[in-house]
Amino acid sequence: MSRKVLITGGTGMIGTRLAEMLIDAGYEVALLSRTPGSGRYRSFRWDPLAGTIDEAAVPYADYIINLAGSSVSDGKWTQERKREILSSRLAGTQLVAKQLAKDNHHVRAFLSASAIGIYGDRDDQLVNEETLPAADDFLAEVCRQWEAAAQSVATHDNIRTAIIRIGIVLSPEGGALVPLARTVKLMAGAPLGSGKQFMSWIHLDDLCRLFIQALEDAQWKGTYNAVAPNPVTNQEFTETLADVLHRPLVLPKVPEFGLKLMMGEMSEIVLASQRVSAEKVLRTGFTFEHPQLRGALKSFYGEE
Ligand SMILES: NC(=O)c1ccc[n+]([C@@H]2O[C@H](COP(=O)([O-])OP(=O)(O)OC[C@H]3O[C@@H](n4cnc5c(N)ncnc54)[C@H](OP(=O)(O)O)[C@@H]3O)[C@@H](O)[C@H]2O)c1
Repeated sequence: MSRKVLITGGTGMIGTRLAEMLIDAGYEVALLSRTPGSGRYRSFRWDPLAGTIDEAAVPYADYIINLAGSSVSDGKWTQERKREILSSRLAGTQLVAKQLAKDNHHVRAFLSASAIGIYGDRDDQLVNEETLPAADDFLAEVCRQWEAAAQSVATHDNIRTAIIRIGIVLSPEGGALVPLARTVKLMAGAPLGSGKQFMSWIHLDDLCRLFIQALEDAQWKGTYNAVAPNPVTNQEFTETLADVLHRPLVLPKVPEFGLKLMMGEMSEIVLASQRVSAEKVLRTGFTFEHPQLRGALKSFYGEE
């Protein structure tokens, strides 16, 4: 059976590693990109904001993994940035959904990214896929609309649809860990705000393995949290990172008001507490290679 996977936003941090792991697992990979042709994979052009897409892209695929979206941590959240963060996800997902509504393709499964930001700020409440999304913060609203656009694909009986709510992805190549590790290495690391906020993280390779399992296993349908089974507080995260990097933590906590002053509304990213359950994913039989934070961090920095 043909095993062709089209990845939207596949040039990003997650897509790059996912494409490698898909190739290793015997899949063919193509990317749907605003700037196709520069990498090692076949790629198709689209521009979600302009509403244009190469008509050959969706008919190429047996599976689609939808990752595209403008970075949430790339510059202060001005009104314009917020519009781009939302509309890049919404327009991209709607454009793919529109192509999937046609009958000129053979796509069997559609996996669409979302984020645990959908739960908002929950203190130490353990949230699962049944927990209602938060009503009052920006990222939660983005995720709610992003998921609603992806859900429209689930109405096609022949396309199995799963929404993957991604936690804080750990990789030494990009994402949240890079600036955190840099400050700790410079002995400028410190817990942020109260330090009590929960961080539900996942090792990049576990996330990619989870996506591959969700492609292959027909039971994956609906919404799943992609987080390791052991979320930690920001304080514990910072202390474990410092320990793995063999650096002392000498500075006091960074006060919440300072972060708000520096980052504005974007401080939501580091201050919101999300203690997210991995139970549903574990019940599918998925096993994490890196269930504990220390082991995950050692896989990156073990020799330092
Ligand atoms: N990394 C995390 O910790 C994390 C956590 C939760 C959720 N997620 C979600 O998972 C997805 C992938 O994450 P990532 O870390 O791999 O992101 P990333 O490195 O920022 O890559 C995202 C990709 O989306 C495309 N893109 C960027 N701006 C766009 C725009 N305005 N319109 C359309 N496409 C655009 C780009 O591909 P082209 O330039 O090729 O078009 C880019 O390579 C994102 O949607 C993100 O929100 C990530």
